[in-house]
Amino acid sequence: MLASLAAQGAALGSQLTIDAAHPGVAVSPTLYGAFVEEINHAMDGGLYAELVRNRAFNEMGWPGNWSVSSQGGAKLVTAMDASQHAGAQTSALRMVVSGIAAGAAASASIVNTGFWGVPLRDGTAYTATVWAKTDGSYSGAIGVELQSKSGTVLGSATFAAPGESWTRLTAPIVVTNPQGESGDNVVMVTLNGNGTVWLQMVSLFPPTWKNRPNGVRPDLAEALAALKPSLLRFPGGSFVEGYSFNSRWNWKITIGDVIDRPGHPGLWGYYSSDGMGLHEYLQLAEDIGATPVLGVWSGHSNNGLIIAESELAPYVQDALDAIEYANGDAVTSVWGAQRAANGHPAPFNLSYIEIGNEDDLDNTLAAPNSYNAYRFPMFYDEIKQQYPYMHVIASYGENWLTTPVTSRTPDVEDEHYYEPTASLLTDSHRYDARERTGPRVFVGELAALDFNTTAPEEPARLNTLGGALGEAAFLIGLERNSDLVWGAAYAPMFVNVNNQAWVPDLIWFDASQVVLTPNYWVQWMFSRHRGDVVLPATADEVHGLFASATWRRRDQTIVMKVVNNAAMSNAATIAVEGGMALNPAGHATVLTSAARTDQNTFDEPSLMTPVESVVTGVGPSFPFTFPANSVTVLELKRKCAPVLAGPTAGLTTPCRAE
Ligand code: AHR
Repeated sequence: MLASLAAQGAALGSQLTIDAAHPGVAVSPTLYGAFVEEINHAMDGGLYAELVRNRAFNEMGWPGNWSVSSQGGAKLVTAMDASQHAGAQTSALRMVVSGIAAGAAASASIVNTGFWGVPLRDGTAYTATVWAKTDGSYSGAIGVELQSKSGTVLGSATFAAPGESWTRLTAPIVVTNPQGESGDNVVMVTLNGNGTVWLQMVSLFPPTWKNRPNGVRPDLAEALAALKPSLLRFPGGSFVEGYSFNSRWNWKITIGDVIDRPGHPGLWGYYSSDGMGLHEYLQLAEDIGATPVLGVWSGHSNNGLIIAESELAPYVQDALDAIEYANGDAVTSVWGAQRAANGHPAPFNLSYIEIGNEDDLDNTLAAPNSYNAYRFPMFYDEIKQQYPYMHVIASYGENWLTTPVTSRTPDVEDEHYYEPTASLLTDSHRYDARERTGPRVFVGELAALDFNTTAPEEPARLNTLGGALGEAAFLIGLERNSDLVWGAAYAPMFVNVNNQAWVPDLIWFDASQVVLTPNYWVQWMFSRHRGDVVLPATADEVHGLFASATWRRRDQTIVMKVVNNAAMSNAATIAVEGGMALNPAGHATVLTSAARTDQNTFDEPSLMTPVESVVTGVGPSFPFTFPANSVTVLELKRKCAPVLAGPTAGLTTPCRAE
């Protein structure tokens, strides 16, 4: 790949300079982070591994996403029955079967198509769970059957019918799939006797990442974990605000057995099962080694609702209780004991909490500036009093300048940037001149809005290489200013391509495939190539080069991040000032493609991936050609004298003891 790029011939020749003798500010260890939100079916039908959609009949009611079928003369009458419910559900599905003659091979079924298909892999054990009860007269068994679209049975489990109390029936089903793996299968619950059965929940789980109960989909979790994010913000975003009071994120209804989670209407056009609840998000952060950043409801919903000062206290208490759930003593605290009962006796070590989301927008609402006036202060004061170690984050959109929180000094402020690529390039200097006297900055949501200019009549936001270049240039600016900038995260993280409520998104998927966008690879490259301190660096931005440099102590290496936003390659000269001797062999990781409009797609998921190569001839001044439209990480290792004195000692600069 690099050889063919070199063959294009370099049209520009710029100078990049690094001053290795004057290390600057420390790089924030949390700079490269991640943000996950229930949007685009990112969780239900995405990261959350459940395969049955509308499993408790509460997302879409009945028959949403279900259909009925019967054979051999069986008759089936179905209806939701509000007089029956298990756990925190409000009504159950009543199934009345008749017409089955004694000894006849007849049955009646309900059929679920999952989240745009149920993926099933040969030889894999799935966990089927059904909550059921009968009227006592039901004469048959309850079966769970996994079928291909054409009706081939790929696996099944049979349960003896329960009595008149709600019973959790669960069993593994090992799939035999002649296709190896297929995505368009169905899950069926089958009754083979006459009588009445109520169903409350029908669930099918594949093996989960790290085998967590009620866990997450391995391929998506691995894509997230591979970013090595040092912080994880969750669960929103606007999902925390909700469209209205009833659709706000109320974490207390998202914990415990899933039968006890009623779910709630999400902001992004579909009902959330809340199978992915507070506990699962904290577990996910722990499993990927990220600092959890919990968003809590701040008394503001998207429809303009602002909770009055006199009525806000219960929601402040909810935030305090969430901290206790995460960190409280497993025996002596109420919510800590709940956490332990839910399988995690050790604390989750939560130390960052964000109050609301984009609350600067309340300026346009009926109670303008309520965030600054009383909502943020009430949360801040109570949290700081009870948990002095907590860092309290103020949530802004892009309007931090017009509506800053002045009533308290937040530890961190969350700013969101969705901008065209050109603005992100300019904004790579956004923080250069900001005063260092206020809160630290968290760019909690960042994405280039790269519009489809080839079809302007249908402007679509895309995940192009061009957008990724803008994001990389912006991140370079954050790294340079990481004494001020505490962290950053792309948004949104996930999209199920069958429900694109918001694009662009970092990771595209359907029931069985995953596409990593060029934007993903930029995050991957930057997060996996971190230094400890910033080194002064200059680049020829006029000709499209943006650069940062850091010093990585553990292996005595200069790490350069360079964007070439130009449509032609740049045969640059890199000057490393300060007299540091360098190993002549360096290392390059390059992301590029033929055109800045290129995207990774389901047909061509790997059109663009980072390509690694050895760089030769590294020295105080050496040439390197940055391909057109590219992001490059260059690692330049210091040449050190041998630790022990010997005949060759003194030929190179001794390494500092660091
Ligand atoms: O990331 C998508 C949405 O953009 C978030 O929910 C919200 O915070 C922002 O407006």
